[in-house]
Amino acid sequence: MKRISFQFDTAYTSDYDSLIIPVFADGQFPQACALLDADSGLTNLVKQLNDSADFEGSSGKTLMIMQPTNPPVKRLLLVGLGKEESITSKSYLAAIKSAAVALEDTGAMNVLNACVLVQPADRNTDWAVRQNAQIFQQNFYDYAHESRGEHSTKEPKLNTMAFAIKETTGAKQAAEQGQASALGMAITQDLANMPSNFCTPAYLAETAIELGKTYGFEINVLERAEMIEMGMGSFMSVAQGTDTPPKMICLSYKGGTAGQAPIALVGKGVTFDTGGISLKPGAAMDEMKYDMGGAATVLGVFKALGELKPNINVVGVIPSTENMPAGNAIKPGDVVTSLSGQTIEILNTDAEGRLILCDALTYVQQAYQPAKIVDMATLTGACIVALGKHVSGLMANNQPMADALLAAGLETYDRFWQMPMGEEWDEQLKSNFADMANIGGPGGGTITAAQFLARFVKDVDWAHLDIAGTAWVSGDKKGATGRPVPAVLQYLLNEVK
Ligand code: BES
Ligand code: MN
Ligand code: ZN
Repeated sequence: MKRISFQFDTAYTSDYDSLIIPVFADGQFPQACALLDADSGLTNLVKQLNDSADFEGSSGKTLMIMQPTNPPVKRLLLVGLGKEESITSKSYLAAIKSAAVALEDTGAMNVLNACVLVQPADRNTDWAVRQNAQIFQQNFYDYAHESRGEHSTKEPKLNTMAFAIKETTGAKQAAEQGQASALGMAITQDLANMPSNFCTPAYLAETAIELGKTYGFEINVLERAEMIEMGMGSFMSVAQGTDTPPKMICLSYKGGTAGQAPIALVGKGVTFDTGGISLKPGAAMDEMKYDMGGAATVLGVFKALGELKPNINVVGVIPSTENMPAGNAIKPGDVVTSLSGQTIEILNTDAEGRLILCDALTYVQQAYQPAKIVDMATLTGACIVALGKHVSGLMANNQPMADALLAAGLETYDRFWQMPMGEEWDEQLKSNFADMANIGGPGGGTITAAQFLARFVKDVDWAHLDIAGTAWVSGDKKGATGRPVPAVLQYLLNEVK
């Protein structure tokens, strides 16, 4: 994906072919914008537009003016932010997104962006820089289908974006982080949007290998025969019904000191979830190509780590398979033995995510002795019922880690909402025929799924992100969101000591 070159500049010069100016609902714009050019006619122009009701700065509205006489710029893009005192993170980010969309099909190449002079009351300039960088860079995603070797004829023109503030270390890092986050999100989106006949477990593995070559990650891919041999009876029971080879994809980024225990990211990589013998209904079943959203998030975060090179050790583990009905598929009532030795009665073959994740959790602890584990998975439809599509579900075995993730989610506006855990929900997993069942009955489905996973986490800080509602959007805008790459990346960066 083409990269925008982000810079900082407080003076408007004719080198810029476009100027992006934030406007408030009263037709005012930030005082600091006047610095761009003391003699510019901006004040007059914005006032006239407001008086004539042509542009009143309503939140999210944009107006592109070509060749205004004063300021003498080729394109002036006015971006409405609404009432200055009522700007929220949500309204600000939506307005910046509209600005990116308004600019995308134009010839704008070198842009001065003054929107970073404004933020919601509880945010600072670095936050605005990070979000502007992320949004403008991520908006290029529509054009890029690079992982399929397809190049859209619609290449974006934008080359340079200067933020209209003084360069500081913090602002520079914020721009880099926003950009890296967007580059990561683009991989996540691309993999998730790709249909399952292209995005197979092998394709995810190739993507990891490519990332490894580019950024120097260690990559190790486990094959079916090895995993059967190792005793991953739970993961392999899901994979037994498909001819498509399953993979356990392991990535290792070493940015920290040699002895430092890594943070592990574990991502559910079901490249298509039919439900298996407990077959899903037909409606919207195509969306189960997105059931590898957790895996795609791990790869997206690794891309961002490769770009930013923070001082931290991170491992990624992705169990990946299809979940298919077949003559040799697992059946309700089948009992399997997980890598941990615990036995599982599979009462519903559609609760397959936890069956592949539990062996990945055991494996990551055995192979890497991580200090912390974050797993991410499109795990339960119940999570969408409980929380809708706006926040991801968060469950953890310790509160400091939950708090750190909640904070990272708020910082990036890629939010989580914590759900409880406890013995009451754990008891729902009781089985008469094995150590546990793979479903916990009708109530609290998101929590019982987490309780199932918790049984495979031994003495290590662990958090689980249920991204069933947030990884993609349905309907006429159907597509992957790239979430929760920004929040997980932020969490890792906050962990750098
Ligand atoms: N991948 C699904 C969860 C899902 C469903 C995510 C719809 C997003 C939208 C998962 O494998 C699944 O099928 N879960 C079951 C669990 C149930 C059988 C206990 C579910 O949510 O119905
Ligand atoms: Mn399922
Ligand atoms: Zn699934």
